[in-house]
Amino acid sequence: MLVLPKGVRHIPGYLTRDAQVALVADVRAVVEAAPFYRPEMPSTGKPLSVRMTNCGTLGWVTDRQAGYRYQANHPETGTPWPTIPAALLRIWSDVSGYAHPPEACLVNFYEPSAKMGLHQDRDEQNFDAPVVSISLGDSCLFRVGQARRDLPTVSFRLESGDVVVLGGAARLAFHGVDRIYPSTSGLLKNGGRINLTLRRVTTPAEAETRS
Ligand code: SIN
Ligand code: FE2
Repeated sequence: MLVLPKGVRHIPGYLTRDAQVALVADVRAVVEAAPFYRPEMPSTGKPLSVRMTNCGTLGWVTDRQAGYRYQANHPETGTPWPTIPAALLRIWSDVSGYAHPPEACLVNFYEPSAKMGLHQDRDEQNFDAPVVSISLGDSCLFRVGQARRDLPTVSFRLESGDVVVLGGAARLAFHGVDRIYPSTSGLLKNGGRINLTLRRVTTPAEAETRS
C-alpha cells in the first residue's frame, strides 16, 4: 500500500457522478464570466501548459511582469472574479477543518499534454488553513513530497471526483502533476482535466476568530 506523506489526505470518489456533473456546470458558469488565460512564469515569461482562471474574492495569477500573486480582478478582462459556487464552499466546510471560508478557488485546465512542475503553494499570508483540491475529468498522475524539494516524493493517480487535502505537516508539501491520462473520463465533453484548488489567502480578523 502507498504511504502518503504526513498531512496528505486523499479521498477517492468524494463526489458522486451527479455531483461532478453539477460542479462542471458551475465551472462553466465561472469560465463564462472569467475566461481561461495562459499564465506565464515570473521573469522568463515562459507560458505554463495549464490554462487558468479563478473564482472568489481573490484569484491566484502569474505573468512575466509581476510574477506569482493574488489579485481581485481577472488579469485580462479586469473584472472581479465570480463568486465561489456554493457546492465548493460545502466541500471546504466538510473537509478543511478550518473555521473560515476560502477566499480563492484556482481553476486549472489541463489538455492531454499539460502538466505542472513540482511546486509549493506559499503565496498565502499564513498556512493555517489547508489547501483543498478537487479533480474533474481525465485522470492524472499526481506527485507529492514534503516541505523540502530534495525529500522523497510519491505519485498516485487522481480520478474524477477525488479530493486531496494538503494540511498540517503537508501544507507546504511540494506537489505537481506528472501527466494526464487522456480519454479516461467522459465527464468533460471535449476531454481534459479540471482541477479546483480552494485556499484561504488572508489572516482572518481577530473579531472573526472569536466565537
Ligand atoms: C496545483 O497544484 O495548482 C494543481 C494540482 C492539480 O492539478 O491536481
Ligand atoms: Fe499547487
